[in-house]
Amino acid sequence: MASQEAAPRQPRVLLTAAEIDSTVARLAAEMSARYHDGVVLIGVLRGSVPFLADLVRVMTVPVSVDFMAITPYTPGSGRVRLLKDLDLDIAGRDAVIVEDIVDTGLSTAFLRRELERRNPRSVAVCTLLDRRIRRVVPVEIDFAGAEVADAFVVGYGLDHEGRYRNLRLVAAADVELLADDPDVYVPVFYGSPEFELE
Ligand code: IMP
Repeated sequence: MASQEAAPRQPRVLLTAAEIDSTVARLAAEMSARYHDGVVLIGVLRGSVPFLADLVRVMTVPVSVDFMAITPYTPGSGRVRLLKDLDLDIAGRDAVIVEDIVDTGLSTAFLRRELERRNPRSVAVCTLLDRRIRRVVPVEIDFAGAEVADAFVVGYGLDHEGRYRNLRLVAAADVELLADDPDVYVPVFYGSPEFELE
């Protein structure tokens, strides 16, 4: 009984590795069908890295990759700021912003505005996860993975204080438990075959 009470609440798996793979394959096929002349994929650091790396390996058109980083939006902090800009010039090219999750939409809306000023042929948005329920600004999503409800998620690029990005799955985690101890899910995710296999 005591040991059961000490065990962290089980995170809920929202996307298994197999579900991630099929979502990535679908989105890569959609983008390959749209951009015959090639495309610049712009990863938003750091959460989109695993997603972007998997996407490019199954796309069947020429792909350039670049990255941007912005300050996370926090209520009351004012606005989003650019921390790392592109190295590539996207003028006249088709560009796709690749996001791990579109939540309030503030980051994506900022990035889209920023990129549109550089005279690209087009700017689109691709996201693995879409949490529409929390949207603050409207964002058009051209290539949408899975919709998630109002729960904090970790895994496959998504972190809590730098942890859990390298999980092969996406899981809903308890924010109160994480606030008490950011490592609370380490034994569960990294020590149990149930999660390693998924
Ligand atoms: P937005 O600007 O609110 O749409 O969200 C921007 C960023 O916040 C995302 O790209 C993520 O990096 C991060 N984020 C939002 N929701 C979550 C979550 O549930 N888990 C981990 N990171 C998140």
